[in-house]
Amino acid sequence: MKAPVRVAVTGAAGQISYSLLFRIASGEMLGKDQPVILQLLEITPALEALKGVSMELEDCAFPLLAGIVQSDDATVAFKDADYALLVGARPRGPGMERKDLLEANAAIFSAQGKALNDVASRDVKVLVVGNPANTNALIAQRNAPDLDPRNFTAMTRLDHNRALSQLANKTDSSVNDITHMTIWGNHSSTQYPDLHQVKVAGTAAMDKVEQDWYANDFIPTVQQRGAAIIKARGASSAASAANAAIDHMRDWALGTAEGDWTSMAIFSDGSYGIQEGLIYSFPCTCKGGDWEIVQGVEINDFSREKMIATEQELAAERDAVAHLLP
Ligand code: NAI
Repeated sequence: MKAPVRVAVTGAAGQISYSLLFRIASGEMLGKDQPVILQLLEITPALEALKGVSMELEDCAFPLLAGIVQSDDATVAFKDADYALLVGARPRGPGMERKDLLEANAAIFSAQGKALNDVASRDVKVLVVGNPANTNALIAQRNAPDLDPRNFTAMTRLDHNRALSQLANKTDSSVNDITHMTIWGNHSSTQYPDLHQVKVAGTAAMDKVEQDWYANDFIPTVQQRGAAIIKARGASSAASAANAAIDHMRDWALGTAEGDWTSMAIFSDGSYGIQEGLIYSFPCTCKGGDWEIVQGVEINDFSREKMIATEQELAAERDAVAHLLP
């Protein structure tokens, strides 16, 4: 058996974590031969609820669960962490403007970035799930000057998975037949789900669907799916978000499927003309615990316009918290 790795999860008593933690502990994220120590962070008032979640984790008697740490101190929860899933965030309260939301979260993610910088493993792989995820990841990254910016990512895998299922339904195929899906940009309603490279059982997706369906049905459905779930369920997507976090981390740690890629919001190196340093979702392949942006994807005018719109939103979010960025 391998030595245990340390997996920190914030917002550990929340909805997403209630699905996520059990799947990490069962080996679905890092493999059935990889023991894990869960290091759980919550705010002080939620520590009692976290105790209950930890009791349930114990009661599963997971063979791979090598320990549980519970804390309201980020320097305890992130100590030597090999993986950090930053799920906890401040939700939008009544009367809160987008700017207030950005600022409230900037306070949380700057503190957590500093704590990661101080105590986590130098190779820690960070996934930000809490919204606004891309900008929260940017803030954490900028507050962790001693860590490689490539270690900070944000989640657009849920959008990617939503796009796979919508296309599978439309083309009467299985998600197993679909490859080369890309979500570009922000995890928000400006995200751009791009079908131009997608293959359905080896055939170009754009040859199987009408442009009108693509532009006026598929794209808005994927963009608005989160809101549609809140309307139907009366609560935001939790199990599917946890599932996407598992997919994101598993691919990053263990590699993407041969001949395919995935979508990850990562530190832009200027590829495809996207401003350097933004946390922007690109098509990525992963191998040996590292990711790489897929190069050479053809961008037509339709795509370019949408890629720029979501880039502009991210730049505006960054500028709104500029005074809080080191
Ligand atoms: P939730 O409200 O059920 O749980 C959040 C938990 O975070 C709470 O237990 C809260 O006490 C904790 N928390 C708040 N501030 C914290 C801090 N500073 N340190 C540690 N813990 C803290 O929310 P849920 O449903 O679990 O969602 C979590 C976040 O994920 C939300 O921001 C949501 O918008 C986001 N989300 C992101 C998705 C994506 O695709 N990127 C998809 C779905 C949700």
